[in-house]
Amino acid sequence: MNEQNKKNKSDVFTKKDVVQYNWKLTLRGLRFLHSKTISLVKLEKEEGVIVEVGSGTGLILRRLRSIYPKAKLLGIDASADMVKFAKANSDSSIEYKMAYASDLPVVGDSTDFSVSVLSAHHMDEEEKKELVREMKRITKSGGYILISDFGRANTWYGKMLAFLSSSHSHTKNNFEVIDKSIEENKLEIVSRHVQFGYIEHLLARKA
Ligand SMILES: C[S@@+](CC[C@H](N)C(=O)[O-])C[C@H]1O[C@@H](n2cnc3c(N)ncnc32)[C@H](O)[C@@H]1O
Repeated sequence: MNEQNKKNKSDVFTKKDVVQYNWKLTLRGLRFLHSKTISLVKLEKEEGVIVEVGSGTGLILRRLRSIYPKAKLLGIDASADMVKFAKANSDSSIEYKMAYASDLPVVGDSTDFSVSVLSAHHMDEEEKKELVREMKRITKSGGYILISDFGRANTWYGKMLAFLSSSHSHTKNNFEVIDKSIEENKLEIVSRHVQFGYIEHLLARKA
């Protein structure tokens, strides 16, 4: 896939988005969403490897660093501005790379936890499928894949959030596509939590 095609397949954040992202995050209470994701990341060994795909400004990886000081942490994002901001605001022990979800610069079977938070809804159907396939490829046998993203609204509050987020370009059927890919890749579902009546946190395991 060439660079232009990739750009059309997902909403990669611009410099303006980067500046706005952290205060938007605070205003929208997304810290609670991150807390739920982080609570599901449980490394068996302190020195384990965690990769976040679509790592944005690095908020999640910085919180994981305080829980797992010895772990290897890598953030991957398709936005050069996000990667630059994350590097400038993180401890040098957290590595960041610029790449697309469909072509992760990580060797196969090397990761204990492959995490993606609020990134899939920026990707078209093909890129979402590649995201799951790539997350599976880089994860060790017995390791975990954790996706937290816009799901199926099941309360009035969730329906309101779904309405407010419907302007994002690849939100429709977001979790249906993720679920189908999880099934096609033969990943075992460990747990599913629905937060705010809308956000799904899906934890799956690679056999
Ligand atoms: C809403 S932000 C989430 C950032 C972070 N996960 C968090 O929760 O704070 C979505 C991120 O996904 C990135 N992104 C979008 N499409 C991508 C793709 N195809 N591959 C990798 N990153 C992508 C964007 O550049 C952006 O930084």
